[in-house]
Amino acid sequence: MQRLKLQLVLFLSISTCHTVFSFTDGLLPNGNFEQGPKPSQLKGSVVTGHDAIPNWTISGFVEYIKSGQKQGDMLLVVPEGDYAVRLGNEASIKQKLKLIKGSFYSITFSAARTCAQEEKLNVSVVPTTEKRDWGIIPIQTMYGSNGWESFTCGFRADFPEAEIVIHNPGKEEDPACGPLIDSVALKVLYPPKRTRANLLKNGNLEEGPYIFPNSSWGALIPPHIEDSHGPLPGWIVESLKAVKYIDSDHFAVPEGKRAIELVAGKESALAQVVITTIGKTYDLTFAVGDANNECEASMMVEAFAGANTVQVPYQSKGKGGFVRGKLRFKAVSTRTRLRFLSTFYTMKSDNSGSLCGPVIDDVKLLGVRYPTHA
Ligand SMILES: *[C@@H]1O[C@H](CO)[C@@H](O)[C@H](O)[C@H]1NC(C)=O
Ligand SMILES: *[C@@H]1O[C@H](CO)[C@@H](O)[C@H](O)[C@H]1NC(C)=O
Ligand SMILES: *[C@@H]1O[C@H](CO)[C@@H](O)[C@H](O)[C@H]1NC(C)=O
Repeated sequence: MQRLKLQLVLFLSISTCHTVFSFTDGLLPNGNFEQGPKPSQLKGSVVTGHDAIPNWTISGFVEYIKSGQKQGDMLLVVPEGDYAVRLGNEASIKQKLKLIKGSFYSITFSAARTCAQEEKLNVSVVPTTEKRDWGIIPIQTMYGSNGWESFTCGFRADFPEAEIVIHNPGKEEDPACGPLIDSVALKVLYPPKRTRANLLKNGNLEEGPYIFPNSSWGALIPPHIEDSHGPLPGWIVESLKAVKYIDSDHFAVPEGKRAIELVAGKESALAQVVITTIGKTYDLTFAVGDANNECEASMMVEAFAGANTVQVPYQSKGKGGFVRGKLRFKAVSTRTRLRFLSTFYTMKSDNSGSLCGPVIDDVKLLGVRYPTHA
C-alpha cells in the first residue's frame, strides 16, 4: 500500500513537470474562445452548461458572442478570431492551470465594455497564500480606439495548481450590459536583477506582460501598490490610472522591443525604489519619445529622485523619435524613490478621442565617482 502511494506520487510529479515544461507563453488552452459550446448547450447566445466552453468552467449568465453579432444598434466586434464571451452580472469564467510554485506570472486578457456605464472586472488566482488574492480592474476604453483594450495583472504562484478567475462583480439592470472577454494569455516573468551597468531593475522595461502579437493597442498595466507581484517586474504603477506597455512590432520604441507609454498625464506614474548610499551622487538617465501613434503634442516628462526633479520637454510629431533626459542627484537616504510622469494629457490626432502620451524607456541609474569632474 505504502509503495503504491509512492509510485502514484512519483507518477503525478512526472506528469506535472511534463505539462509545466510544455507550457509556452501565450494564449491559454482555448484562451480566445474559438471552440464553443455544442448547439445543445446554447439557448440563443446564453451558455447553459458549466463545462460547455472547452477548457473553461463558467458560472452565472455567460453569453457566447460571435463577431458581427448585433446588440440593438451596436455591432459587436471581436479582436481575436470570431468568438468571445460576455459576462453578465456576477458571472465568471475560470480555468485551472498547472504552474511552477514560487514563480511569477502575468495575465493578459482583452476586454470591451458593451454599454455606456463604467464596468469592472475582478481577476483572481486561487488558491494563494495572499490575504487579498484578487484585483479589480476597471474597463476603461478611452485609451484604445476599437473599443477593445488588453489588460494585465501579475501574481506569484503559491501552489502548483491554481485557477484563474475572471468575474464581473457588476449589478446592472440590463444583464446584456456585461463586458466582453477574449484572448486570455499567461506569461512567466523573470524578475531581473540590478547589475553593475544599471542600479535599476528592468530599466529597459524588456521584462513585462504578454502582448498579443496581433493586437496593435499594447497592453494596459493598471495601478498597483506592490512591486513584487506586478506584471512589470521591478516597477510600480502609482496613482489612479494605468500606463500602457507597448511593443516595437506596432509602436516606435527607443530601445529594445518594449517601452511604457504614459497615457494618463499626472494621474499615473511609473516608480521604482532603489538602494542608494547617503551622500553619493547618482545619474538617472532615460529616453523620452513618442510611440509613432499619431500622438502629436508638446510633451513633458517629469522625473523625480526623492525631492530632486527635472522636466524633459519633447516635441512630438506623432511619428516616433526620442530625446535623452538626465537627473543628477545626491542621495539623502538609503532608499530613493524614482518616479516618472507626464505633465500633460494628450489625445491622438486621429479624432478617436484616445488618450496617448510620452514614451519612457532605457532608464539607467549609475553612481558618479567624481561628480565635480563630470
Ligand atoms: C482543452 O479542451 C480540449 C477539448 O475538450 C481537450 O481536448 C484538451 O485536452 C484540453 N486542453 C487542456 C490543456 O486541458
Ligand atoms: C473578487 O473575487 C474574489 C475571488 O473570486 C472574491 O473573494 C472577492 O470577494 C471578489 N471581490 C469583489 C469585489 O467582488
Ligand atoms: C495574426 O494575424 C495574421 C495575419 O493577419 C494571421 O494569419 C494569424 O492567424 C493571426 N494570429 C492569431 C493568433 O490570430
